[in-house]
Amino acid sequence: MNLCMIGTGYVGLVSGTCFADLGNKVICVDKDIKKINKLNSGFSTIYEPGLDELIKKNYNVGRLKFTTEIKKAVSQSELIFICVGTPNKKKSQEVDLSYVLKAVKEIAKCTKKKKIIITKSTVPVGTGDKIEKILKKLKKKNIDIISNPEFLREGEAVRDFRFPDRIVIGSNKKKYFKTLKKLYQPLINKGALFFTTSRRGAELIKYASNAFLATKITFINELANLCEKADINVQDISLGMGSDIRIGSRFLRAGPAYGGSCFPKDTKGLVSTGKKFNTELSIVKSVIKSNENRKILHINRIKKILGALKGKKIVFLGVTFKPNTDDMRDSVSLKMIPYFCNKGATITYYDPTGPKSSFSNLKNCKYIKDINLACKNADLIILHTEWDEFKSLEFNKIVKNKKFKIFDLRNLYNFSDMKNKKIKYFSVGRPDII
Ligand code: UDX
Repeated sequence: MNLCMIGTGYVGLVSGTCFADLGNKVICVDKDIKKINKLNSGFSTIYEPGLDELIKKNYNVGRLKFTTEIKKAVSQSELIFICVGTPNKKKSQEVDLSYVLKAVKEIAKCTKKKKIIITKSTVPVGTGDKIEKILKKLKKKNIDIISNPEFLREGEAVRDFRFPDRIVIGSNKKKYFKTLKKLYQPLINKGALFFTTSRRGAELIKYASNAFLATKITFINELANLCEKADINVQDISLGMGSDIRIGSRFLRAGPAYGGSCFPKDTKGLVSTGKKFNTELSIVKSVIKSNENRKILHINRIKKILGALKGKKIVFLGVTFKPNTDDMRDSVSLKMIPYFCNKGATITYYDPTGPKSSFSNLKNCKYIKDINLACKNADLIILHTEWDEFKSLEFNKIVKNKKFKIFDLRNLYNFSDMKNKKIKYFSVGRPDII
């Protein structure tokens, strides 16, 4: 089929490239000429393992194109996917739909033919209705709007596209289910569930799924607090709970607090949808609050571990919100590092994806591209992001200060291993080794 992706961010670029890899002809559109030029030279504009090769492969055989020209792209496509950003408005928790609505108006303006617009961006319940009203005002009766939310995780997006648990299609006209089923047939053949519902239903499934995953994480994070006080290993709780298939073991790893571009945004977006429909979503509200509090809880814990912060050398191993991405959005390090710098500590950090502009204006914060050098004079090493390359570090060999301590925010290290090596080791939901 001939598809067009409006927006070449995490959603549009991955989905467009993977659709092309399924044999479709895809044109990805973006206003940012620098992005388009980089993509046309065969390089991905986002850090996503495995994406570069896929872009090159499909670009070279002519299945994947990149352009700033929306008119040409729309005229050559029957399905038009909207994949632009839907950030939260600064002040309110509301979702900013300006990019989505702008894209709709541009699409409507450049065609008189029958088209199907498909929102793949995460949009609040009722957005399809809002778009329908705009199209009606523009007298575009031959353009229909469908919801097809994505469930891609950063760092695993190609895999998640290729092997989805389910494909969700929301439309108020049943005739479109057949068209979308044809597009996704190769994934259905590999076992993906093809699930159809109303347009609003599909819009809500996306928010509900992310909010539930955030709730699951926050649940185990709060239990970790209890475990620390009750001398229990939270990993046993995750295993004991998760082996009940009604609960499931995934997204039950206690950590520093969830971050990223989705959970923080979508939990707030769902709460604002609740408000719009005059429905109190108290659980989601408490998840948002608990997750924010957790960052302060860990800052206070670090203050207790270190005593005074002034003059102390703190090393961060990883600063992104999760491994296999360079994305810093809502990463816990964005709260911790400025705070510690402010209190007179000296921060060095190493991250496999390089230095971060978020910290470039902090005078006593430095990026060091060699892990051993970064850790050498540490008073405290904070394992912030669980990159594979941190798994086998020999701390006793690389740290000169014999009194160093480790705060493992991801429970990456084996508890008894740390004990045997006589390392002063602190982690999440497990006893301290002091
Ligand atoms: C999420 C959803 O998983 C995905 O389906 C949706 O399309 C986009 O949002 P993403 O934000 O990329 O994906 O990352 P994810 O792997 O879900 O992690 C989100 C946050 O939760 C990260 O900060 C991660 O460290 C944290 N997390 C995840 C935990 O703390 N514990 C877990 O067990 C899992």
